[in-house]
Amino acid sequence: MDALAKNHKKLERNVSLLAVFAFVAVIIGGIVEIAPLFWIDNTIEEVEGVRPYSPLELAGRNIYIREGCYTCHSQMVRPFRDEVERYGHYSLAAESMYDHPFQWGSKRTGPDLARVGNRYSDEWHRAHLINPRDVVPTSIMPPYAFLADRELKAGDMRGDLKALSLVGVPYDEAAIEAANDDLLAQADPNASTGDLLERYPKAQVRDFDGNPNKLTEMDALIAYLQMLGTLVDFDSAEALEEPR
Ligand code: HEC
Repeated sequence: MDALAKNHKKLERNVSLLAVFAFVAVIIGGIVEIAPLFWIDNTIEEVEGVRPYSPLELAGRNIYIREGCYTCHSQMVRPFRDEVERYGHYSLAAESMYDHPFQWGSKRTGPDLARVGNRYSDEWHRAHLINPRDVVPTSIMPPYAFLADRELKAGDMRGDLKALSLVGVPYDEAAIEAANDDLLAQADPNASTGDLLERYPKAQVRDFDGNPNKLTEMDALIAYLQMLGTLVDFDSAEALEEPR
């Protein structure tokens, strides 16, 4: 028996010694896996088009979370053929890199919403949220008609943007300062939107709830739903994909 096997036998027969060596092995493995994360800036591959939410979209997202829409809807298309054919391109990590908290979810009482943006008209969403049975007779989704009556009291959106910037969402000083103005500008087709569109490319600017005289929670929620999955141009990114 050579020396190595002999030493190994000693190690295997001494429980305390084995525990110490096993511990050391786990520590080395842990350091190798964990330590690099402290030196790289980001573990998510950046994807063109992904940007932080505009203040109005963010206000809509806050309502989405408040109403618990996530208890029935996920926002992550998995890379399976049935999902991709139903919902569109599977979700990329980068698409939720500015989500705090993320809305991936695991419960799908209703369909996944990661790519619902621009799939229906604002009118459809309005009718659907007021009474889902009016557009989908078999729907079991609850009605949210009150959102159309409730004035949007988003509060001071500068605080929301500031808080998100503290956890790494790249809102700069100017974006934070202009948050409340940007919120109003996105829901007002007559406002000047140069800065808004520069800060939030592809932001959809219009009255979303069919009532231009009042900024409602319905406006914000539909603005949020209509942007979901619309930021990344998968038609042009398709060339980079590995063949399926
Ligand atoms: C009790 C579960 C439930 C809750 C809570 C719920 N939904 Fe739904 N949702 C459904 C079901 C089921 C459907 C599929 C039938 C239909 O279209 O109404 C659906 C469909 C949808 C659709 C259409 C999706 C598509 O691709 O056709 C949207 C948009 C939507 N819901 C948004 C919301 C929003 C926003 C909220 C929160 C304000 C919400 N849902 C809350 C169950 C729910």
